Amino acid sequence: MTEIIVALDVDTLGQAEELLHRLHGTISFYKVGMRLFTAHGKRAVDLVRRFDGKVFLDLKLFDIPQTVSDAVRQAQHLGVQSVSLHLWGGGEMLKAATSVRPRPKLWGVTVLTSLSPDDLRFLHPGLELENLASRLARLGKTHRMDGIICSPHEVQSLSQALGGDTCFITPGIRPAQTIPDDQRRVMTPQQAARLGIRYLVIGRPITKAPDPLREAQDILADIKQAAPKSLEAP
Ligand code: C5P
Repeated sequence: MTEIIVALDVDTLGQAEELLHRLHGTISFYKVGMRLFTAHGKRAVDLVRRFDGKVFLDLKLFDIPQTVSDAVRQAQHLGVQSVSLHLWGGGEMLKAATSVRPRPKLWGVTVLTSLSPDDLRFLHPGLELENLASRLARLGKTHRMDGIICSPHEVQSLSQALGGDTCFITPGIRPAQTIPDDQRRVMTPQQAARLGIRYLVIGRPITKAPDPLREAQDILADIKQAAPKSLEAP
């Protein structure tokens, strides 16, 4: 089953509350990212939980193993469902993160889609972007990440490398006929659902819509229509 995570990319708790209020009963999973968390910290998480929402804390942790495991422990105290970290942090960092008990789900980021082939050539001559994403995803799988965050366009090849039971989380989703904003390679909710992607992180198409509830309902209807192809949702 494909589920929507609405990205609460706003500056104030008031704006977040307004969205939660409108979407209550239809959307129950929200992303609190760097923007809202830097501004309001725990209060942002508490706000979502007051509306019975689950929180994906998208902080993309990347530090020495001890620091990352301490942050995962604190995320558990916050009561979030999941927290993201950079797979690039390496095996020891991932091991430290998974050793925290109890802990939220750990979702690993492969390669930032903003990284260009030129950036990569400079950082790692000879390494192809696709190859790197697949190596990082495999590292994540080895270290028992609960999910892999990547572009929806990478899902098919990564699921072949990792196995059909992988939980994928993808941004870059745009309903047909909407503007892509600054997203370069987008996919419609229906296409993504057909691929069996478990969670679609969707921000502006819903949060900036004149009627966010209506937009969310339309997207959910699109998802429902799409029959998953091969991946199994865990
Ligand atoms: O507004 P939009 O639907 O583009 O929001 C997508 C969300 O996913 C944002 O919160 C953004 O930070 C995040 N994201 C992304 N592209 C990535 C990684 C994360 O858009 N490659």
